[in-house]
Amino acid sequence: MTPVAPEPLWIRTGPPIPVDREHVLHPDVVVAGAGLTGLATAVALARAGRRVAVCEARTVGAVATGNTTAKLSLLQGSVYGEIRAHAGVEALRAYAAAQRAGADWLRAIAESVDGALRDEPAFTFSTTDEGDAALEREAEALEASGVDAVWGPTEQTGLPFAVSRALRMEGQAALHPRRVLAALAAELRSRGGTIVEGCRVTGLEDAPDGVGVATTRGVLAAAHLVVATGSPAIDRAGFFARLEPSRSVVGAYAVDGPLPEGMHLSVDPQARSLRTADDGAGGRLLLVGGGGFRTGRGDAGAMLADIDAWTAEAFPGARRVTWWAAQDYRTITRLPFAGAEPGTDGRVLTATGYDKWGMANGAACALAMAGEILGERPSWVDGLRSPQVGVRDAATAVGANARVTKEMASGWTKALVSRDAEPPAEGEGRVETRGAHPVAVSRVDGRLCAVSGVCTHLGGILQWNPAERSWDCPLHASRFDPEGRVLEGPATQDLARMDDAPAR
Ligand SMILES: Cc1cc2nc3c(=O)[nH]c(=O)nc-3n(C[C@H](O)[C@H](O)[C@H](O)COP(=O)(O)OP(=O)(O)OC[C@H]3O[C@@H](n4cnc5c(N)ncnc54)[C@H](O)[C@@H]3O)c2cc1C
Ligand code: FES
Repeated sequence: MTPVAPEPLWIRTGPPIPVDREHVLHPDVVVAGAGLTGLATAVALARAGRRVAVCEARTVGAVATGNTTAKLSLLQGSVYGEIRAHAGVEALRAYAAAQRAGADWLRAIAESVDGALRDEPAFTFSTTDEGDAALEREAEALEASGVDAVWGPTEQTGLPFAVSRALRMEGQAALHPRRVLAALAAELRSRGGTIVEGCRVTGLEDAPDGVGVATTRGVLAAAHLVVATGSPAIDRAGFFARLEPSRSVVGAYAVDGPLPEGMHLSVDPQARSLRTADDGAGGRLLLVGGGGFRTGRGDAGAMLADIDAWTAEAFPGARRVTWWAAQDYRTITRLPFAGAEPGTDGRVLTATGYDKWGMANGAACALAMAGEILGERPSWVDGLRSPQVGVRDAATAVGANARVTKEMASGWTKALVSRDAEPPAEGEGRVETRGAHPVAVSRVDGRLCAVSGVCTHLGGILQWNPAERSWDCPLHASRFDPEGRVLEGPATQDLARMDDAPAR
C-alpha cells in the first residue's frame, strides 16, 4: 500500500524561517546550502566579521537537516568502532575531538532557544549475538577515543522489550532541528548576512581574486565558496564516486502508555533508532527510524511498513501520525571530510560524509571550514585527514564503482526495451523509450508528467520512488520531483521536460 505523502514533524511543529529577497552586496564568502552545515559555517564566519551570502536551492532545511532525527550525541551506534577499523586510532581521537567541539558549539546555540534542545541520556543497545559483538567493539573504540560511555544495567534503557547489552552516556541532547536552523538564520541575518532561497549554485567562473559563483540568480563574486550541499554540488575532486549514499525512513507515532526516556539506537543487523519529540499540542510522540538503503535501489514504502510492524509489536496500539525519509553519505574511511577542494587554490571548501551523525559533525565541519578561511584551523582537523586508504577500503571503492557501472548499463538496457503502452496509473511512474531517449513518465494527483529519464549528473537512468513520488538516481543518489526539478544529490540541473516527445 502506498503511504500518505511524507511530512517531517519538524515542519509541523517548527517556526517559519524568514529569509532575504536579495543577496548582500560584495560578499566575502558565498555559502551553497542552508542546512545545518551551511548556516553554522555562515554564522561562524559572520561572528568573525565576514559578509556572507547563503544560496539555498530550495528552502532552509529542505533536505537532510529538516528530515533528520536530530540526536546530538557523542554516542553514535557503531561509528567509533568502524572508524578505528578503517582509519586507525589517531584518526579516531581526532574524530572524538571534532564531535566534542561541534556538539559544544551547537548546544550553546540550541540551549538559548525555547524548545530547541532537551537533555537526554543516549543508549546504544543490542538484542542479538551480532549486536553484542558490535557493542563490545564499540565500547573498546570509545575507550580508545577518550569518550566516556558506561555499560548500563539493561533495564535502565526503559525499553519495553528484552535487551541483552547497553552502553549509556549522560549529557546528550535531542534537538528540534528546525528551531536550531531558525536560530542560526536569525543570528546570521542580525550580523548582516543574507539567505536567499530558490537560488541554486550551478558552477564556477573565473574571477581575478577569488571565485565567480554561478547561480540560478546570477553570478556572485567572493573570496571563497563554501559548498555545504550534502553531496558536494561543486565537486572538483570526484567526491560523488567515493561517497556511499544511504536513505532512511522515520515514523512518528502516538503511543498509549509510557514512552522510553532517552535516545536509543540498536547495533543489531536490523538497526532501530528511537527518541521522543513534542507533538506541538502538549504531548509527545515516539520517533522510530531504522536501517537504510542505497537511494534508487530500495523501497521507502517497504521500509516504512517494516518500521510500522516493528513499532506495533514493541508498543502495542501505536498509531503513526506522520513519516518522512532522508539520505546521508558516508566515506570509505567513515571519517567526514571538511576542507578545501583540491585544485581550487583553497578558494572552494566543502564538507560531507557524516554517516547520519550530522548534528555534531555538521557543526564541527562548519568550524573546520570557517577556521580554514579565517586562518584559525582547529587542531583536530589534520587528524581527520591523515589516514591512508587501506587495501581493503581501496578494494571496496573499486567494487562500489564497478556496481555503479553495472547499474548504469542495466538501467539503459531496461529503459531501451520498455514496451508499456498504457500511461501510468495514479502514483505510478516508469521510464520508457521515445525515439532514442529514455523518458520518465509519472502520474501524480492526476497530472501526467513526462521528463527526461536520464539523470543530469552523469547519465544514470532514473527509478520511480512511489512512496515519495520522486525520480531517484541509483548511481550517486540525485533525486528529482515528477516535474524534473532537482530535490537533492550532486545534480545541479533540472530534467528536461519531454511532454512533446513522440509516443511510440
Ligand atoms: C534519516 C536520517 C536520520 C538522521 N538522524 C541523525 C541524528 O539523529 N543525529 C545526527 O547527528 N545526525 C542525523 N542524521 C544526519 C544529519 O541529519 C545530516 O548529516 C545533516 O543534517 C546534514 O546537514 P547538511 O547541512 O550538511 O545537509 P542538508 O541539510 O542536506 O543541507 C544541504 C542544503 O543544500 C541545498 N543545496 C543542494 N544543492 C545546492 C546547490 N547546488 N546550491 C544551493 N543549495 C543547494 C539543499 O537544498 C539543502 O538545503 C540523520 C540523517 C538521516 C538521513
Ligand atoms: S547522481 Fe550521478 S548519475 Fe545520477
